[in-house]
Amino acid sequence: MSSRIPLPYSPKVLKYFKNPKNLGPMENPTVEAMAGSPACGDMIRLYLRIADVGGEEVIKEATFESYGCAANIAAASVLTELIKGKTIKEAWKISWKEISDELGGLPPIKYHCSILAVGALKRAVRAYYGGKELPPWLPKELTAEERQTMEEEEMIERIYGRSPKMK
Ligand code: FES
Repeated sequence: MSSRIPLPYSPKVLKYFKNPKNLGPMENPTVEAMAGSPACGDMIRLYLRIADVGGEEVIKEATFESYGCAANIAAASVLTELIKGKTIKEAWKISWKEISDELGGLPPIKYHCSILAVGALKRAVRAYYGGKELPPWLPKELTAEERQTMEEEEMIERIYGRSPKMK
């Protein structure tokens, strides 16, 4: 008999895990980005289709691939739902805590699953502006949340061992 205690996932986490929205790669995305580490599989890749709508850059479509746990799949799924239809500037402001709250709360041991999802979004936004002039709302320096993502990745790699970075 297993002695493992099930994690106290909220009904919403379980719902999104069992029936994820926007799952799968996107053909010809405007931009894509990943966060996490292929070393252990705690990883998310986010795809965005961005279009100019009346002079605003709007996320028309968002999909993801996840190789993480139930919380990671649920976080990525709810993130893609939240950012669809938002301008990039609005999407940039979404925090991992908002994702966790939207899911009815994550167990503390699973906060990093939400941090990785938002980290992928921040990287996708930076990749979108790569080589272009940054808009005034996008700081040149990495934000605390972006640094947090890198710390999570370093921790994952320390625990599971190094592996080549995915692009
Ligand atoms: Fe959920 Fe690491 S992505 S435990």
